[in-house]
Amino acid sequence: MGALTGKVAVVTGASSGIGRAIALGLAAEAAAVCPVGRNSERLSAVADAARATSPRVVPLQADLTDDAQLDALVESLRGEFPAIDVLVLSAGEHARGTIEDSGVAQLDRLYRSNVRAHYRLLQCLLPLLKAGGGYVVFVNSSVGLNAPRDAGQFAATQHAVKALADSLRQEINVDGVRVLNVFLGRVATPRQEKIYSGQEWTYQPELLLQPEDVAAMVLAALSLPRTAEVTELNIRPAIKSY
Ligand SMILES: NC(=O)c1ccc[n+]([C@@H]2O[C@H](COP(=O)([O-])OP(=O)(O)OC[C@H]3O[C@@H](n4cnc5c(N)ncnc54)[C@H](OP(=O)(O)O)[C@@H]3O)[C@@H](O)[C@H]2O)c1
Repeated sequence: MGALTGKVAVVTGASSGIGRAIALGLAAEAAAVCPVGRNSERLSAVADAARATSPRVVPLQADLTDDAQLDALVESLRGEFPAIDVLVLSAGEHARGTIEDSGVAQLDRLYRSNVRAHYRLLQCLLPLLKAGGGYVVFVNSSVGLNAPRDAGQFAATQHAVKALADSLRQEINVDGVRVLNVFLGRVATPRQEKIYSGQEWTYQPELLLQPEDVAAMVLAALSLPRTAEVTELNIRPAIKSY
């Protein structure tokens, strides 16, 4: 029996990319997994794959920027689980552009999906996380530490996520809840492929971080005993490319 066997894990953004890899990694460790996503087809495919190894898989569809859908998700989770051991926040949107050219409508959209949705879901699930002595994982970006050009809006949301994680840790460590911020360079996911398609660079996924690389590090942190809290992970591609 491994450290994650039988634990209850909720993973947002589980229908794609990094969230998908973490959800499947948790399932492979025999955790009960609740993958959350918007696209029902992709969500079902992940749930089917997770069922091969997990004792319990509860896929839940929700657009986390829609308050009614988020509330329904929380109700379902309360009905299914008395406690949550792991909450991975990997859902989110991305956009590039200079500050001069990027309108506030896009900023509002990024804020709703990357900051407000995490905040509200987390707030609603705190009682279940406290009950489970849980671990909260914020899947953040390297731009949440250092903002490059053409990424002001997105980087602002990732800095905000870092701030939420850092405050939260100091508020709820006392309840036995741990908080991990994961700062990532480029990972070969559908999002990254889309980003490359708007550039002159050639998309070579084999040169980038793999979602499974990220999942392996997150699972290692989650598997540590309660005496240890990993607060930050910085992971970037070993091969430098564009
Ligand atoms: N890929 C990278 O290079 C990279 C680098 C640094 C940081 N990150 C971070 O890693 C996280 C995941 O990125 P990724 O590359 O795996 O992205 P991805 O492949 O585009 O997947 C994004 C996921 O978020 C979900 N999602 C987006 N908006 C949502 C909403 N309003 N409600 C519910 N779910 C929503 C999507 O659901 P549906 O597909 O079902 O719509 C999908 O499951 C992001 O937070 C990102 O900032 C990624």
